[in-house]
Amino acid sequence: MDNDKRFVTGLDVGTENIRAVIASVDKDGHLAVVGYNEGKSAGMRKGVPANLAGPASAIDKMLGEAERMGGYDVRNAYVSINGSSILSTRTEGMIAVGTVEHEINGEDLDRVEDVAVSGRIPANRDVLDVVPLEYALDGQGGIKDPLGMSGARLEMRACVVSALTPNCENLKKATAAADVQAERLVPSVISAAKAVLSDRQKENGVAVIDMGAATTSVAVYEEGDLQYVGVVPAGSNNVTNDLAIVLAIDPSLAEEIKQRFVTGNFDTEKSPVIKIGREGKDERVFDRKEVEEVVKARLDEIFGEIRKKLKAAKYDQRLPEGIILVGGGAKMRDIDLFAKKSLEAAVKIGTPKGLGGVSDAIEKPEFATAVGLAMLAAEEGQYTPVGGKKAKKGLKMPKTPGLLKKLFSKF
Ligand SMILES: Nc1ncnc2c1ncn2[C@@H]1O[C@H](COP(=O)(O)OP(=O)(O)OP(=O)(O)O)[C@@H](O)[C@H]1O
Ligand SMILES: [Mg+2]
Repeated sequence: MDNDKRFVTGLDVGTENIRAVIASVDKDGHLAVVGYNEGKSAGMRKGVPANLAGPASAIDKMLGEAERMGGYDVRNAYVSINGSSILSTRTEGMIAVGTVEHEINGEDLDRVEDVAVSGRIPANRDVLDVVPLEYALDGQGGIKDPLGMSGARLEMRACVVSALTPNCENLKKATAAADVQAERLVPSVISAAKAVLSDRQKENGVAVIDMGAATTSVAVYEEGDLQYVGVVPAGSNNVTNDLAIVLAIDPSLAEEIKQRFVTGNFDTEKSPVIKIGREGKDERVFDRKEVEEVVKARLDEIFGEIRKKLKAAKYDQRLPEGIILVGGGAKMRDIDLFAKKSLEAAVKIGTPKGLGGVSDAIEKPEFATAVGLAMLAAEEGQYTPVGGKKAKKGLKMPKTPGLLKKLFSKF
């Protein structure tokens, strides 16, 4: 075993799918993907755990393959969190630091952050991130990094990201039951942004939209920093379910219609019918206009809600670098055209790029979150310990079902 190698793991626990990316990190901080996998999720509702055993067993099952591929056991990870309880709050804090000659140090920064956060975020919320937007020294603002600068009064403006505590706790419990410690919980759209945005885009102003199965979330960046995050509790599965209800068909058939025949471009002339199955045998014929009406109504609603959020955050039509779409929902054909019309902004599909190793297969919009999580773990030096392996596969499995059974008995 090469003991100089450091590893990081990103674990995206979605409502419909769970994905993992394991990467090695070289001394310059470059990532090379050594293992990845995706599998069906379970026990998740609208981005949050509805029970513990479902996500725990789904994580355990999915990770096994990624671990075999990487030849490495995952003991901890950066984990995605989702759900409409996630929100950002703008806060401010001010402290006196001494005389005008005082040089600002790390302790001062911690103290001003404490003042900016404590009491501003309700007690039933976990703070997931505090993004300093701007500092001011003795009333002079516009300072990005005040370390070492002189002043007597330090002020800070920040963007604080939080989520309901029970959602955070339950997610950590679910990953722990799969023998993975969640080192940090990061909103899925924020980790996706890490994987698909350039520094220039973040500087000029850009939004990322993660359209998943049951949630659609948006994060806005400007001046290099996160400015806003919000989650709409509806996603691409709502499109499927609407089709299943209106056409009175099985959801799996509705999913097939959505994936094979629906596009986000509702203005072009297409054949008036959608045919599925073998002619003269099991063929089913659907009225395309009816299908399109159902899909468009739901997409209008979801993107309308996103637009409302952007407007409330004052970023509606104020994004020079446009919008980057990620998540499984971004795979609908021409969804970028639909989003462009709906949000009146330039829209592109985002894929994680620039990784070494076996990265081809994960350069897809639905892997942006897992890749971003691994990148964040590497940036923050949260490596997975090497050695001290979990029990060998054959031995490990009895251990986990035992744990799962214990969890089950609580429900
Ligand atoms: N080719 C495709 N065309 C249209 N939709 C697709 C396609 N491929 C996947 N999807 C949709 O993407 C969704 C799954 O996306 P994803 O895996 O990002 O969700 P998730 O992370 O599990 O959910 P969430 O983030 O809401 O918790 C499903 O609704 C699926 O129907
Ligand atoms: Mg997701």
